[in-house]
Amino acid sequence: MIWLIGCRGMLGTELARLLESGGRPWVGSDIECDITDPAALRDFAARHTPDWIVNASAYTNVDKAEREEARALAINGGGAGNIAAVAAACGARMIQISTDYVFDGRGTRPYLEDDPIAPLGAYGRTKAAGEALVRAACPDHVILRTAWLYGRNGKNFVATMLKLMAERMTLDVVSDQRGTPTWTHTLADVIMRTIAHGGVRPGVYHVTDEGETTWHGFALEIQRAAAARGLIPGGCAVRPVLSSQYPSKTPRPAYSVLSKARIQAALNIRLSDWRASLAAHLDEIAAERRPDLTEQKTQRSEDSHEPAKNVRRP
Ligand SMILES: NC(=O)c1ccc[n+]([C@@H]2O[C@H](COP(=O)([O-])OP(=O)(O)OC[C@H]3O[C@@H](n4cnc5c(N)ncnc54)[C@H](OP(=O)(O)O)[C@@H]3O)[C@@H](O)[C@H]2O)c1
Repeated sequence: MIWLIGCRGMLGTELARLLESGGRPWVGSDIECDITDPAALRDFAARHTPDWIVNASAYTNVDKAEREEARALAINGGGAGNIAAVAAACGARMIQISTDYVFDGRGTRPYLEDDPIAPLGAYGRTKAAGEALVRAACPDHVILRTAWLYGRNGKNFVATMLKLMAERMTLDVVSDQRGTPTWTHTLADVIMRTIAHGGVRPGVYHVTDEGETTWHGFALEIQRAAAARGLIPGGCAVRPVLSSQYPSKTPRPAYSVLSKARIQAALNIRLSDWRASLAAHLDEIAAERRPDLTEQKTQRSEDSHEPAKNVRRP
C-alpha cells in the first residue's frame, strides 16, 4: 500500500493521477490528517499498513514563511520528522520532497547532492530541518530535491503568467535568478519509478527538468508557447527586472540549477528539457480549454453579432 500525504496539493494531485492508473493500491490524505499530529499519523498508518509513504505535503508559501517561521517549521520540519518516525515504526520506505532553496545560490555549476547547504530564508531553513529529521528518524528514506514546480493544480508561475499576460500590456519579471522550471509530471513520474524500482539507495537525489533559464526567460517561453496554442493574445511586453527592484524582499538563491546525474543513473532515465515539459503542459491546458472555447463560440454566434473584445489593462 502506498500512502500519499498531501494528495490535494499541486504535486500530490499529479501523483494521485499517476497512482490511479498505476495498478498498485494506494491511499491519500491531506490536511484532515495533520502531519503535525503524530497520533493522527500513527492511527492512519495502523489502518492502512503502508509499505511506501510519500510526503508531498508542506508549508510552501515562501514569502509568508518569513513571518510565520515557527508554523512553517512545525510542518516542513516537525511534520516531516513525524512521518519519518511512523514510516520507521511500520517498516515503510519514505520519499520526502525537498527544495533547491536549501542552497544559498552562490554556486556557478549545477549543485550536487552532497554540496553544503546554506538556506537564505525561512522556507529553505524549514525544509533543510525536514531533511535532517527525516534522515535521523527513518534510515530507509529517499529525499528528492526539486525546484520551480508548476502543474495543473495550485498556484504556480505558469498559471500566474498566463493570467497576467492575458490582462496586461506590460509585465516585469526577475532576470537575475537562474534555475530550472520543473513540471509536476516529471517529478511524479520519478516518484512512481522510484517505487517501482524498489532498490534505489537511501539518500538525497536532485530531480528537476533539464536545462536552465531565468524567471524572465521562463516567462518569455511561456508567452511564446502559449500564444502559439491560442491560449493568450500576443502583445504583452515582458520586461526584465532585477530582484532588488522586485516588490518581494524575501531572499532567494540567485543560482539554483541542480545536477540530476545521480537520479538518472539510479533509475536509468533521461529527464526532459524544461521547454519540452512546458510544451506538454500547455498542450494539456489547450486540450482542456478546447470544449469551453467551442461552447463560447456557439454561445456568441447565438447571442450577439459583436465579436468578443480582449480587454487588457495596462
Ligand atoms: N512549488 C514549488 O515551486 C516547489 C519548489 C521546490 C520544492 N517544492 C516542494 O515540493 C513539494 C510539493 O509542493 P506543492 O507546490 O505541490 O505544495 P502545495 O501545492 O502547497 O501542496 C501541499 C499540500 O500539503 C497540505 N498541507 C499543508 N499543511 C499540512 C499539514 N499540516 N498536514 C497535512 N497536509 C498539509 C496543503 O494543504 P493546504 O493547501 O490546505 O495548506 C496542500 O494540500 C513540497 O515539499 C514543496 O516544499 C515545491
